[in-house]
Amino acid sequence: MSRFNPVQRTSSHRLINHGPTILITTRSKDGRYRNVMTAAWSTPVEMDPPRLVVLINKEAYTRELLLDSGVFAVCVPSVSFINETYSIGHSTGRETDKFSKFNIETTQSPELGIPVIEKGCIAWLECKLIPEPHAQEKYDTFFGEVVSASADPEVFINNHWHFTDQNKDRHSIHHLGGGNFFRCNDLMVAKEL
Ligand SMILES: Cc1cc2nc3c(=O)[nH]c(=O)nc-3n(C[C@H](O)[C@H](O)[C@H](O)COP(=O)(O)O)c2cc1C
Repeated sequence: MSRFNPVQRTSSHRLINHGPTILITTRSKDGRYRNVMTAAWSTPVEMDPPRLVVLINKEAYTRELLLDSGVFAVCVPSVSFINETYSIGHSTGRETDKFSKFNIETTQSPELGIPVIEKGCIAWLECKLIPEPHAQEKYDTFFGEVVSASADPEVFINNHWHFTDQNKDRHSIHHLGGGNFFRCNDLMVAKEL
């Protein structure tokens, strides 16, 4: 049972527009295998239809499962999940189920049946791979079309993030390298000149 609220597909780019570290989840085609990896490199590339890219290195088991099933999800971890996020990115799921290893609860995404993380995360987007073999092979870049998205209603309100001092443990995390992250919480509102 999801505790998140659906996000309009055409607003889903806002969930990752600010460059958070993400978790990529996927499964095998037959659903027997699943995996999760950490990624600092991702970005929306189109609003309507909503499309995004993630970069996945050639050794990652995630890449193998994603190519098998053609589906993946992007989950946005929060401050409360920083140790899991870091550890997931420092181990492979090739021989161990990282969800069990790190005690991670999952729920199934509604359209594509991908394991997605809500406890410790503040949003997810489920995606269908847009096959681009050249970009995948040469640049490790995987394009996805967002099929549905959902977010924590306490921090994503009216299609915008609301990171305040009252919900600091639910802010997104941003990787600086070497296990150092910062949280997204110094809001500034720009005026048009
Ligand atoms: C903070 C952090 C960010 C990372 N960003 C990326 C990334 O953007 N792309 C990538 O291919 N690997 C990235 N990694 C490394 C993968 O998460 C790592 O290769 C992982 O072990 C792959 O797991 P798998 O074999 O279970 O798929 C990152 C690791 C950390 C800790």
